[in-house]
Amino acid sequence: MAKKQPGAGQTALVTGASMGIGVDLAECFAKDGYDLILTARSEAFLSAVSARLSASYGVKTNVFPIDLAAEGGGTRLAESIGAKGLTVDVLVNNAGYGKAGAFDGSDLNDQLGMIDLNDRALVELTQIYWPGMMARGRGGVLNVASMAAFVPGPFMAVYYASKAFVLSFSEALWEEARGSGVHVTCLCPGATESKFRDRAGTGATRLGQTAVVMASMPVAEAGYHGFKTNKRVVITGKGNARMAWLAPLLPRTTVLKMVRTLQSPAT
Ligand SMILES: NC(=O)c1ccc[n+]([C@@H]2O[C@H](COP(=O)([O-])OP(=O)(O)OC[C@H]3O[C@@H](n4cnc5c(N)ncnc54)[C@H](OP(=O)(O)O)[C@@H]3O)[C@@H](O)[C@H]2O)c1
Repeated sequence: MAKKQPGAGQTALVTGASMGIGVDLAECFAKDGYDLILTARSEAFLSAVSARLSASYGVKTNVFPIDLAAEGGGTRLAESIGAKGLTVDVLVNNAGYGKAGAFDGSDLNDQLGMIDLNDRALVELTQIYWPGMMARGRGGVLNVASMAAFVPGPFMAVYYASKAFVLSFSEALWEEARGSGVHVTCLCPGATESKFRDRAGTGATRLGQTAVVMASMPVAEAGYHGFKTNKRVVITGKGNARMAWLAPLLPRTTVLKMVRTLQSPAT
């Protein structure tokens, strides 16, 4: 008799599933038999991902195109999901974007939009699906933060702060859920191949020019494996893990100067 897959009978909602790390996270869940709910703004990309993953892994997929940065986006998404009679066992809060540059002269919509998507929508969706997870005593939340979560980020200040929020929030929920059967993992990638860099405008920075860039599938696999084992924080890459360990040991002024240099244009 075939072995039952760990995700059989469960559904994972993946945000930011139209491209990048989110597509590979969705694939990790599909491989283990989870049905998928995929969301992002780009409907055509979502439909292509949905068709590929349902054909490859025989899982049910549903697609909900929505702008999660818009006020009430998470609530509207949950209403649409509920109207189809779908339950969310695992929530993967992956959608996010960054904007590089000095805070002086920055665009307010860009800055607030990062908070709206990276933090507000993440909390909104978690708040909606958390009670069901706790009541069932299974499933959980996989949040995607960043290496940026570990340090303040001069010249990308709001993005770094938004990811520090994700890390802090995730760790607190991990503790709240301890012993309940509900898993909480915060995935903290370093530079990863995706559209992120183009959208963030980080290509010309020292960090953008020098960072070791990982492929998105190993990043997603590390996050998925961490979630399965309820690992609180997953950092991708040995160099990144060393940096996360070292940063709190250094004087804050040193860290600030280092990040300032990394986020400055390469000359
Ligand atoms: N790549 C890196 O170097 C890196 C490093 C550390 C952390 N991260 C984090 O990893 C996560 C995934 O990013 P990625 O690298 O895969 O970047 P990406 O290729 O730009 O993907 C971002 C995803 O978020 C979705 N999204 C963006 N704005 C949205 C909105 N307003 N409403 C709904 N969905 C929206 C995008 O889809 P649509 O455009 O179709 O809406 C896309 O699916 C992000 O949280 C990012 O901060 C990335």
